[in-house]
Amino acid sequence: MNILVIGSGGREHALAWKLAQSPQTNRIFVAPGNAGTATDGTDIENIPIKELNFPALIKFAKENKVGLTVVGPEIPLCAGIVDAFQSEKLRIFGPNKAAARIEGSKVFCKEILRKGSVPTAIHHTFTNSNDAIQFLNKDRDIPVVVKVDGLAAGKGVFVCSNRSEGIDAILRITKNREFGNAGDRIILEERLDGQEVSVLAITDGATILTLQPAQDHKAAYDGDTGPNTGGMGAYSPTPIVDGTTLHWIEEHIFVPTIHALNRLDVSFRGVLYAGLMLTKQEPKVLEYNARFGDPECQPLLLRLKTDLLDIFEATIGGTLDQLSPLEWDNRTAVCVVMASQGYPGNYEKGFPIRGLAEASKVPDTKIFHAGTAIREDGTIVSNGGRVLSVTGLGNSVSEAKLAAYTAIKHIRWDGAWCRKDISDKALSY
Ligand code: AMP
Ligand code: GLY
Repeated sequence: MNILVIGSGGREHALAWKLAQSPQTNRIFVAPGNAGTATDGTDIENIPIKELNFPALIKFAKENKVGLTVVGPEIPLCAGIVDAFQSEKLRIFGPNKAAARIEGSKVFCKEILRKGSVPTAIHHTFTNSNDAIQFLNKDRDIPVVVKVDGLAAGKGVFVCSNRSEGIDAILRITKNREFGNAGDRIILEERLDGQEVSVLAITDGATILTLQPAQDHKAAYDGDTGPNTGGMGAYSPTPIVDGTTLHWIEEHIFVPTIHALNRLDVSFRGVLYAGLMLTKQEPKVLEYNARFGDPECQPLLLRLKTDLLDIFEATIGGTLDQLSPLEWDNRTAVCVVMASQGYPGNYEKGFPIRGLAEASKVPDTKIFHAGTAIREDGTIVSNGGRVLSVTGLGNSVSEAKLAAYTAIKHIRWDGAWCRKDISDKALSY
């Protein structure tokens, strides 16, 4: 079968790489892909179509006998790519527009959580700054989190320590309109404390397959300091979520969420990603995403032994209940993101990346590309903020970490940097 993967990050490289291992796949196209998907074997090739150009993607899928399309990022999902493909009778993996709202609208997400009595931070929704500021002024001077309702590439969340920071965030959203229409509604919510973990599940709207737990590192710098990023590294499994907790999360978080969606006639088929805070009382939902996490996807897929195509087919077909239990490599995978100088702020692109061949010889590692491009002369250059996801496997967290950082030592470009402490939270646990 020919497959089309939509997106261009480390997650999509991992998806294409994993799907290429299935004996059932023939050619894998990635739109638009990166230098990693351009060079990772003859089965995988890039096609120069952007992820929001639905007519061109549909035309390509028809002309190239694509049997399944897999969508990586949230933007095309929230824009209705699944509905567009389905109306042309094309098979596609991911939630439809209505279901993807669980990520696309934090207000909708909170509504679902309330309907399902799913543990989450107490919150209030506002449509204008005066009401929101008045609310903050009336309240005690508690730490508060201010969020924009819509998609904001991870930037629409302000974790504030006091009232004045809260008011400042409200004004940036409503008066400065820094997030455009995404900020038409804002949420003020209680700030939660604890360890943050990512638990992803694959569901066909009836059966829920909970994947092994992972932990992301969202802050830019070591020790979880600095600005928020898309994710500077992730590892799986994490000892912070044991089997009992994972089961609790499935029962008290995923099951009631899917029920609440179904009660609204929204059938979620795809990856439901719960960003959780393990508070002193219980795990609580910080947010839902409607897709694989990036970089969580990279360590998860490096460990997954089950044929990913079988999982996707069963999800689309509504037959996940008939799939054998997922098989995992019991080792730990640690993924370290190498980034451009300046990220998550402004950065330059186009620096030649050296040492990839040597790095790829380090045993038990896989280098997934993210923001990279390939020039006509074959030179691989940086082309984004998060450039590479260097992922190592090991019998322990420290072994996996060592494998990833050993590979990283070979890789150089102007301004390359990474966090040095990815997965240390597991070691100190
Ligand atoms: P979100 O996009 O909602 O996951 O928020 C991005 C990041 O902000 C999360 O990964 C958390 O680190 C932080 N965050 C969001 N909501 C809260 C909350 N209620 N309490 C504390 N931190 C939060
Ligand atoms: N790793 C965070 C995200 O994918 O949203």
